[in-house]
Amino acid sequence: MAELLQVPRLKLYLDFERVLTEPQLTALRAMVKRRAEREPLQHIVGSACFCGLNFAVSPAVLIPRPETELLAERAWESLQRLARQPGSAPPSVLDVGTGSGCLAITLAVKCPAVTVHAVEISEAALAVAISNARQHGISDRVLFHQSDLLAALPKELRFDLIVANPPYIATPELETLQPEVRNYDPRLALDGGVDGLAFYRRLASEAPARLHSQSTLMAEFGDNQADAVAEIFRSQGWTIDKLARDLAGNLRIIIARGPVY
Ligand SMILES: C[S@@+](CC[C@H](N)C(=O)[O-])C[C@H]1O[C@@H](n2cnc3c(N)ncnc32)[C@H](O)[C@@H]1O
Repeated sequence: MAELLQVPRLKLYLDFERVLTEPQLTALRAMVKRRAEREPLQHIVGSACFCGLNFAVSPAVLIPRPETELLAERAWESLQRLARQPGSAPPSVLDVGTGSGCLAITLAVKCPAVTVHAVEISEAALAVAISNARQHGISDRVLFHQSDLLAALPKELRFDLIVANPPYIATPELETLQPEVRNYDPRLALDGGVDGLAFYRRLASEAPARLHSQSTLMAEFGDNQADAVAEIFRSQGWTIDKLARDLAGNLRIIIARGPVY
């Protein structure tokens, strides 16, 4: 039924009167039933679009979200600026909690001069990310590590930029999420601890040792978390450069420079 899942949008209109065969209708009805049971469309078709690129998804990974495209855009603009500096070494970036690999792979595609590392705790998610990297032909420039945050990264690695879209839902709120998220996104990708902020505390204290002096971290956060996230980083000696809004007008990412040692 692959051809049913790959009809370009324009063809839907140009081919409006097309009569489906009985096997096609049977397959389509099964898909509509799954969607009616609140399974996300991306799981039914097996892929999601992020920054104009296609990523395979499975129940092991968070479905890439449109608001995370803001983080990707800010990160590739910053990496492209670094790469243009005369005499500079090729920049390196670390993606923390890579999931499908959407951020790491997008940065590798948009910034050919950059070396990308990505960490992820879930072995099943890593397998999806590795396969997506192969699909995009950039496996040689994205190195994946199974790691609890930064713990298992080789000791000598330092980065010009760290990006992260960590789990940021407060544990008590998980049950209130819409069924598409609550029942289908992995809990590991959502659960940010009792107040949703556990990963920011860890990043603020663990990331400086992995950044070149005064280099930048960019992280996504949830609705109404901007002040608390900024305070966590500020209290650990970071300089907040910007809190940026997503296209819906909500504060969504923090851009901060690491403490000076
Ligand atoms: C919100 S998802 C983001 C996935 C992807 N970066 C994106 O933006 O779509 C968070 C990811 O962090 C991973 N994760 C959770 N705890 C982790 C930990 N302690 N160390 C590394 N990765 C972790 C989850 O498995 C999940 O893939």
